[in-house]
Amino acid sequence: MRQMTFVAFLQAQNCTNLASSWRHPESRTDTWSPAYYRHLGNVLERGKFHLGFFDDRLSMPDMYGRNHAHTVQNGIRCVKMDPVTTLTVMGMATSRLGLGATYSTTYYEPFHVARVFQTLDLMSEGRAAWNVVTSLNDGEAQNMGQDKVNEHDLRYDRADEFMEVVLGHWDSWEDDAIVQDKSIGYFADPEKVHRLDHDGTFFKSRGPFTVPRSPQGHPMIIQAGQSGRGKKFGARWGELIFLNYPNIEVGKKEYAEFKSDVANMGRDPEHVKITPAIYTVAAATKSEAEDKYALIDKLPTEGDALSLLSEALNFDFSVKGLDDPFTKEELDSIQGLQAIRDRVIELSKGPNPTVRDFIKYSQRGRPRDPIVGGPKEVADKLEEWFVERACDGFVFAASYTPGSYEDIVDHVVPELQKRGLYHKDYSGGTLRENVGVPVPTVRNWNK
Ligand SMILES: Cc1cc2nc3c(=O)[nH]c(=O)nc-3n(C[C@H](O)[C@H](O)[C@H](O)COP(=O)(O)O)c2cc1C
Repeated sequence: MRQMTFVAFLQAQNCTNLASSWRHPESRTDTWSPAYYRHLGNVLERGKFHLGFFDDRLSMPDMYGRNHAHTVQNGIRCVKMDPVTTLTVMGMATSRLGLGATYSTTYYEPFHVARVFQTLDLMSEGRAAWNVVTSLNDGEAQNMGQDKVNEHDLRYDRADEFMEVVLGHWDSWEDDAIVQDKSIGYFADPEKVHRLDHDGTFFKSRGPFTVPRSPQGHPMIIQAGQSGRGKKFGARWGELIFLNYPNIEVGKKEYAEFKSDVANMGRDPEHVKITPAIYTVAAATKSEAEDKYALIDKLPTEGDALSLLSEALNFDFSVKGLDDPFTKEELDSIQGLQAIRDRVIELSKGPNPTVRDFIKYSQRGRPRDPIVGGPKEVADKLEEWFVERACDGFVFAASYTPGSYEDIVDHVVPELQKRGLYHKDYSGGTLRENVGVPVPTVRNWNK
């Protein structure tokens, strides 16, 4: 029977995806401590989550008013640690949980990223995944040696070549390259360790790569592009896809389209899992969950939304009044998350949305359309999305931690297991085995 894939949408930062979560009375205040990540890992593994995944951004949100004071004062994602290092701590506290982290193709070198993630894959015995992103704002560019973020589609051209280099290096060591015959002093077969010799438009990388294959071959590839170009990139390279669907109808339509894009790339759509991001507020009963949500709903401020919109769209929202419409030139100039812009234009039914429209329709800084309920209500909704083929599973965003995950594990997981929609235990040791995505074969170097 087809079963759901569960991913936790984690941040190595001072709050969850919901910037105001740090103000929740039950949120932990040590989110930069190893104890916190060990605890989260243990909770997720108790609930048999397939993957704990860390997002990333290489700057704090300081586009709003071009100043970080507002961000720091209000705790809007202003602490942001390296996700792979944090993940390693979580990996040491767990044995089955998949370990995913985001690294940018716009600012790193492919050899470096290939090495970091392949090492993580070996050190976690085949549980690693890499979320491939192209980054989106000037703050990141300015932290990484540039003045402005590159143009949107150019970032994806670079990302395509980045993937060719990373995957090329990951194929360098054939599965049986290592012999280790001490009696004759023969470590590995030189015929089975290859040099990539990549010399392209954006990158030059020679090899041979210095890290051998792992129990799952190499890390799984996650992709979350929302734009047309981003989705094309995801269909080409992604094995686990993160998306935002506004409702089940759009989900069903886009799920089918994406799977057919994957097939058109010559890939097996069954081996690419689609998981939309969702918020759940779960409890033992519906009324308890509603009380919980009433508290969460009071936490976000307008300032959170403006700061996060400025960051994601790479546009300083402080230069406009709340009811000022955006001009066509301003909208066209947006090089950040264009999917947010496009959705706001669509939902506000006008070509020139105002700042207030952006706040209202993007729901930035708020838990977007949360599923609030006891075990039955939440499980019913997840079942509907899954059975009607709007997804293969979910990326659970948290409104406070670790409570949001404890609530899912304690109240939602047992109900879904009872219905046969969610696994009772991990089926294997590697992430690929547990998600049902095959080990990639090494390319034929003789061709
Ligand atoms: C669940 C989920 C997680 C994401 N995580 C990140 C992230 O960590 N860093 C990031 O820059 N973008 C993240 N994104 C956004 C996309 O990965 C992508 O970078 C962004 O949509 C820009 O590409 P696009 O213009 O194709 O949409 C995430 C999106 C989703 C749905």
